[in-house]
Amino acid sequence: METRKSAVPAFGVLEGVKVVYSAIEIAAPSAAALMAEWGADVVWIENPRTGDSMRDTSYVKETERRNQRSVALNPFNEEGRSILLRLIEGADIFIESSKGPVYAQRGITDELLWQHNPALVIVHVSGYGQYGVPERVNRAAYDLTVQAYSGYLAQNGTPDQPMAACPYVGDYFTSLMVVGSALAALQKARGTGRGESVDVAMYEVLLRIGSYYMVDYLNGVPAYPRPGARHQNLCAIGEYKCEDGFIGLCVYGVKQNKYLLERIGLGDLWGTEAYPEDTSALWLNGPSAGLIERKLDEFCLTQKVADLEKEFSDVGIAANAVLEFDQVVAEEHLARREAIVEWRTLDGDPVKGVGIFPKFKNNPGRIWRPMPSLGMDTDVVLAEAGYSSEEIESLGSRGVIKSSQAPSELRPDSTPAKA
Ligand code: COA
Repeated sequence: METRKSAVPAFGVLEGVKVVYSAIEIAAPSAAALMAEWGADVVWIENPRTGDSMRDTSYVKETERRNQRSVALNPFNEEGRSILLRLIEGADIFIESSKGPVYAQRGITDELLWQHNPALVIVHVSGYGQYGVPERVNRAAYDLTVQAYSGYLAQNGTPDQPMAACPYVGDYFTSLMVVGSALAALQKARGTGRGESVDVAMYEVLLRIGSYYMVDYLNGVPAYPRPGARHQNLCAIGEYKCEDGFIGLCVYGVKQNKYLLERIGLGDLWGTEAYPEDTSALWLNGPSAGLIERKLDEFCLTQKVADLEKEFSDVGIAANAVLEFDQVVAEEHLARREAIVEWRTLDGDPVKGVGIFPKFKNNPGRIWRPMPSLGMDTDVVLAEAGYSSEEIESLGSRGVIKSSQAPSELRPDSTPAKA
């Protein structure tokens, strides 16, 4: 497919891939954000009247919308729709998120999009999918409600109180599924010349990601109680209170179990019928599980987090202090990997965020521009799609688009934070 000339610099594994998306908040846009960080040309269609509601957040938007180009366009009227169709003619991937099959209901069907670009990969993101029970598919959905519907939420919290897993895992897991499925479909479309339509239902993403214990349930194992701070069915896995903070422990494996039992004063259990010398898992339904947990709790309370982390790590037990934000960002390891970076907003103010992950050795991602202002790139992107300046001016004066209010020159590259 011909890649249109664009102001996006050439870099990354997705160099030359053009993505157009029309969505708000996190789930679909953060998929586009990842692709923009890996080099794709990402055009972000925003409601000309209100903009993306993500603009109301404080700093996170600066990370979630960097490297993107904002076009203020309403695709739900005749002229706006014809602009959208022109934009997708030069695109590889179109992503939209809405309450079920809204785009098709408003005339923007897959078939219409394919008339204009037969190889287009279309990704529909919604809470519940494009079809199914009608009153379900048309519902608004956010992370919390799809966690609740999928059984994901019911697995977190304490026995008395279900709790959503934070932050916004339903959105962020969805964005990973969007990236994966869009690029898989693009690979196929490039080979065949025939596009794809992908139906990403957020609840199904969580059903897939959260199916570990549900598969047991489906096969006759009773559902485990919500775990709280400890594992559902194994001893010595969970968050334990120490003298000066919390530690995350994941004691698993033969030599690890032997070491643990000896260390907490229960070495005489090792090699017994209940805990033979090849015991790799300390099950919660084992005869001394309560005793093991109690002794481990008591032991941890006598330990300093850093000392225990080191001691257990040295003998091959997975253990880590539960770090608060100030401790995370002070870690030398993160500094060496440039995991936290700093760049400048459009106004020139410094802003910090997470770096570009994962690290590609030969085609690294980068931050080439900050989040654009609403509609900042409308004129440039429409010109790239073949609209004359007179046409752009006329569309702007009639409110079909919001013409660019600020010049679309690129900002200089960001500089990684000096940690
Ligand atoms: N220009 C003009 N109007 C636009 C537009 C644009 N570029 N993009 C959307 N609109 C319209 C919508 O069609 C809708 O019109 P309507 O009220 O007449 O139906 C209106 O603006 C509101 O847009 P919408 O995105 O539906 O916002 P909402 O606040 O009603 O719902 C969500 C927001 C996120 C709950 C809903 O879009 C949704 O369920 N999306 C799928 C799941 C999802 O992504 N959830 C968010 C995860 S972070």
